[in-house]
Amino acid sequence: MSAPPLPSAYRFPSEPDAIELRAFTHGLQPERVPVMMEHFTEDWRRFGVDAWNEVPNHWRPESGEAVGWWTLPTYLGDQFIAPLLGTEPGTCILQPSVHWTVQCLLSSPEVAARGTDVLVPETAFPSVLHSVQQWSHLRDLVPREVGETENHRVDRAALLDAIGPETALVALSHVGFTTGARLPTAFLQEVAQRVHAHDGLFLLDGYHAAASRPIDVAELGCDLYVGGLLKEASGSSGNTFLYVRDGLELTPRLTGWFGDAAPFEFRPEPEPHPDVRRRFLGGTTAVAPMYHAVEGVRILLDLGLDAVRDHSRALTDRAVAHADTLDIPLRSPRRPEERSAMVLLEVPEAERLTAYLKQRAVYTDSRRDEVVRMAPFVWNTLGEIDRTFDAIETAMSTGKYRSVSVEAAGPVT
Ligand SMILES: Cc1ncc(COP(=O)(O)O)c(C=O)c1O
Repeated sequence: MSAPPLPSAYRFPSEPDAIELRAFTHGLQPERVPVMMEHFTEDWRRFGVDAWNEVPNHWRPESGEAVGWWTLPTYLGDQFIAPLLGTEPGTCILQPSVHWTVQCLLSSPEVAARGTDVLVPETAFPSVLHSVQQWSHLRDLVPREVGETENHRVDRAALLDAIGPETALVALSHVGFTTGARLPTAFLQEVAQRVHAHDGLFLLDGYHAAASRPIDVAELGCDLYVGGLLKEASGSSGNTFLYVRDGLELTPRLTGWFGDAAPFEFRPEPEPHPDVRRRFLGGTTAVAPMYHAVEGVRILLDLGLDAVRDHSRALTDRAVAHADTLDIPLRSPRRPEERSAMVLLEVPEAERLTAYLKQRAVYTDSRRDEVVRMAPFVWNTLGEIDRTFDAIETAMSTGKYRSVSVEAAGPVT
């Protein structure tokens, strides 16, 4: 195992010896975040309105490039998101949420002009799945929900079969949030090839893929890639992103004056910004989150995304080996090539086990009382995985966890 862990790059919860394994929910705070937030309050105080035009470049101080609040969504997209996705400047922009981005996309007449069907797995995250369902009431877009296989994976054969002349859009999760399974590149390329043969569009939601491994959007063949910085990228909330393939024309109707070609002319009719990605902006952008947005990305890019993936793989290898020793079935893939940064264990009364571990400062989470999820990341060590499974073994062999109350855990775990 090479480069990580990097405890000095992050700030930890207050308990000594806590083991934080919930990178898939909310990453640890990067060490530089308080400094960046101080810069925000100071820039606001010093420059007031003029901060929209220019502030010191805290994000790339060495570059000599001018930045202002106005240009931050595309500037940070170019500097930090494009390298995460293996793509060129000019294609990525920060967004407030995946939900907003998908809504904007579905509001673009260029989507419905390509067909009626939107293919989406029934296991897609609600920001995608529910948006597709809701838009079918507003526009002639018909959700075609693709089911799952017996082992809870996307039914790939059914999905490929469903792509046809009526396909307007295929929207897939690069990594399934209910399984941690990563769709193989060869499959995604086949999807891209079929969708494009029918003039449809291909959207990937990479919330659990980007920032935990290198991504190459051109290789995947997608037209759009969304994701967020809240989790492995440690960017907190309000910071997600969009990649739009160069040359793709989209004119979202759910756009705002920040996406207008001449916002400060306040013209009576809207005109789409010439830069397509900017059309995905709505009203005035929230500036404060952009101060801390990319500090986690900076750490990961400095480490190198190959090293990040290798470390994550070593940790999940160890977790899988422990699960096998304890005879705990896996909901997530066994094969490293199909795995993401997440391991899911099928455990009876998973909520109680999570609560039991939490009492011992080992932070995992559970879903539907069926699985315990863990996503060890760059701040974790192999020793922490061993300690986690020691605690799981004790819990399961004694059955003690079954009397733990789940009330204290709260709705978000
Ligand atoms: C696959 C996936 N997409 C999207 C999101 C979040 O979307 P939003 O930014 O709309 O909250 C999550 C959050 O867990 C997710 O797992």
